[in-house]
Amino acid sequence: MQKTLIKDILAATEPAGSVTVCGWIRTRRDGKGVTFLELNDGSCLTNLQCVVDAGTPALEGLGDNGTGAAIRVEGRVVPSPGKGQAWEVQARAITVFGSADPEKYPLQKKRHSDEFLRTIAHLRVRTNKYSAAFRIRSQAAYAIHSFFRSQGFYEVHCPVLTGSDCEGAGEMFRVTTLPPGERDLSKDFFNRECRLTVSGQLEAEALAMGLGRVYSFGPTFRAENSNTPRHAAEFIMVEPEMAFADLSDLMDLAENLVHSVTDSILTTSAEDINLFDRFVEKGLVDRLRIIASEPFARITYAEAIEILKASGKEFTYPVSYGVDLQTEHERYLAEEHFGRATIVTDYPKNIKAFYMRNNDDGETVAAMDVLVPRIGELIGGSQREERLDLLEHRIMELGQQLSEYDWYLDLRRFGTNPHAGFGLGFERLIMMLTGIANIRDVLPFPRTPGNLDF
Ligand code: 4AD
Ligand code: MG
Repeated sequence: MQKTLIKDILAATEPAGSVTVCGWIRTRRDGKGVTFLELNDGSCLTNLQCVVDAGTPALEGLGDNGTGAAIRVEGRVVPSPGKGQAWEVQARAITVFGSADPEKYPLQKKRHSDEFLRTIAHLRVRTNKYSAAFRIRSQAAYAIHSFFRSQGFYEVHCPVLTGSDCEGAGEMFRVTTLPPGERDLSKDFFNRECRLTVSGQLEAEALAMGLGRVYSFGPTFRAENSNTPRHAAEFIMVEPEMAFADLSDLMDLAENLVHSVTDSILTTSAEDINLFDRFVEKGLVDRLRIIASEPFARITYAEAIEILKASGKEFTYPVSYGVDLQTEHERYLAEEHFGRATIVTDYPKNIKAFYMRNNDDGETVAAMDVLVPRIGELIGGSQREERLDLLEHRIMELGQQLSEYDWYLDLRRFGTNPHAGFGLGFERLIMMLTGIANIRDVLPFPRTPGNLDF
């Protein structure tokens, strides 16, 4: 189907001449002898105004409303006398592909609550806010790929079906082909327990040991029953892994990645970001400029605890050395204390995963979390324990079987070296970039406890 994208028509410095455009009618307004149709094709936020003569065939096919209908408009681009747009289309002919019954089509009003729109996740992409969010999501993914490519990283694909529990947290979805009630794993597809991955890290580590610098960018699953605005059961994680690298290299990588992606979005998605600045979070653009340019604060966990204790704040979860940081603590540090992204390092080993590198103090590990205002934890990672004996010791200390980790331990038996990686929660990044406060609104079809409707 020959057609021009609305964003190309609107961005042109000269009127585009004769065009065919296809899209959905956002609003219809009838004037004297003419009808104005605001058309959106998803290519950009701004609608294209189409001016249609009252007598134009097919106009009747729209009924007296038209909102939501899919149409084609053939016409000529001319300078627009109206304010707000440089060009409009004088329609010569319109074709209605599909109408939308005004009695039934739910997106009639201009503004709807986020809660209502979650109940129509399959339609909400047709609103300004959600189309802007999902365009930004796409641009951010592209910016991440460009960043890694420019730094010599290769993208890798890690399996979704797995036999191991990377984080040791045990909050995993089981996958089986056994009929309900059947428990004999020897009859199951893999003859053993199979689960959905919580992280591609272990496999990414293996691939980094031959490719040097890799990243995976894929779905991960967590069956934690936490109904928070920051947790989803299925989400995308971006996981770089670098051979011959330590914690300091990893912090630099995280900071450069977040700088680069934020800076890129401010340019490529300016129109969409401005919508969020106006309607979702006032001051968003200024906040993003700080995230894109200011160096991240860097502190140790011990320092973080001291800052939190000295804050004079009443936290729901009291603070003392050894506790895991909660979102309220993370937000206090990034939002109020430092007012910018903050990297916390060297957590006590007891609150972190088995694979993190032991520090010489015997108490802490070379872990790193990146905390950002409004979200809390955006990134979690570490330098990995590359010493075979220490890694084996830690696995046993946690009561796990060494045999479960045999292939992973091979990475320490053959050509081991200092290496490091992290996981960035892609949805949390989109929340940071848009000011959207609930993870359910940056995922096109969110999976959260009790919610698998779409
Ligand atoms: O800190 P996490 O659990 O780290 C790992 O899984 C490491 N294996 C990653 C690595 O080193 N390669 O998760 C990483 C990030 C978190 O910082 C958070 O942004 C996001 O993933 N995340 C979630 N995002 C949405 N919903 C959830 N349930 C999430 N759990 C973690
Ligand atoms: Mg974490």
